[in-house]
Amino acid sequence: MRTAVAGGTGTVGVHVVEVARERGHEVVVLSRSAGVDLVSGSGLSDALSGVDVVVDVASTQTVSAKESTAFFSAVTRNVLRAEVEAGVGHHLALSIVGIDTAPHSYYAGKVEQENIIRSGTVPWTILRATQFHEFAAQIRSRASFGPLSVIPKMVSQPIAAREVAERLIDLAERPPAGRVADLGGPRRERMAEMVRGYARAIGARGIVLEVPIPGAYGRAMRDGSLVTSDDADHGTQTFEDWLATRSR
Ligand SMILES: NC(=O)c1ccc[n+]([C@@H]2O[C@H](COP(=O)([O-])OP(=O)(O)OC[C@H]3O[C@@H](n4cnc5c(N)ncnc54)[C@H](OP(=O)(O)O)[C@@H]3O)[C@@H](O)[C@H]2O)c1
Repeated sequence: MRTAVAGGTGTVGVHVVEVARERGHEVVVLSRSAGVDLVSGSGLSDALSGVDVVVDVASTQTVSAKESTAFFSAVTRNVLRAEVEAGVGHHLALSIVGIDTAPHSYYAGKVEQENIIRSGTVPWTILRATQFHEFAAQIRSRASFGPLSVIPKMVSQPIAAREVAERLIDLAERPPAGRVADLGGPRRERMAEMVRGYARAIGARGIVLEVPIPGAYGRAMRDGSLVTSDDADHGTQTFEDWLATRSR
């Protein structure tokens, strides 16, 4: 089958491309470095020719609700429009566990993305996952000031990006299924501890300060809204296991 991966050069996207190729898919990468701008739509129509399914794992790095909403709205509308034109029969998007309990900041864009997909005409699947193990590194790089890392008080249930990619390709190979069971990691972790562990693993020094973020968004981070419920599926690789593979 011919599978397009929007954001196929990103953190989870590289795994999605790898898993799809291992399973014999013909893969088309949709990203700026591959000549496709999903926000302007340039290069998109040609790239979707003959495609059976689009796996959307594109993202933008922002904590602004306005910027996130503008990005996910433009990308989703452009991709869905191009899918209709090209006759693509399945739109599969990756979302995040708990976004509707705190539809603010970056999550505002994810809620908008899901709403646009649900109200569109292209048959769809949405998988919500928890934070990837890599999130500890992403948040540390955004929230470090010299030797000080200021990390939100947050309970996470991190999962291997590779396991999310495997689930996405399982879903891409099946008919559109709507909202499917959430996917989370095997264990709950404190984000500050994850960042400390990551810093140790890469030999970095410094202080990690855990701070509660005010408002509904910060409360959702702290109160367990972003971890999975009992009816979710769970991956097997713990954050500790993942860190061990990084320090080898
Ligand atoms: N990070 C997490 O912990 C996590 C957890 C659960 C779900 N998710 C969801 O998973 C998805 C992927 O997240 P990620 O962390 O893997 O993202 P990421 O590492 O930031 O990668 C973003 C991807 O989007 C592409 N992109 C950005 N702007 C683009 C544009 N204008 N046109 C075309 N491509 C563009 C980038 O490629 P170029 O720069 O080459 O354009 C890159 O391939 C997102 O929907 C996110 O909400 C993330």
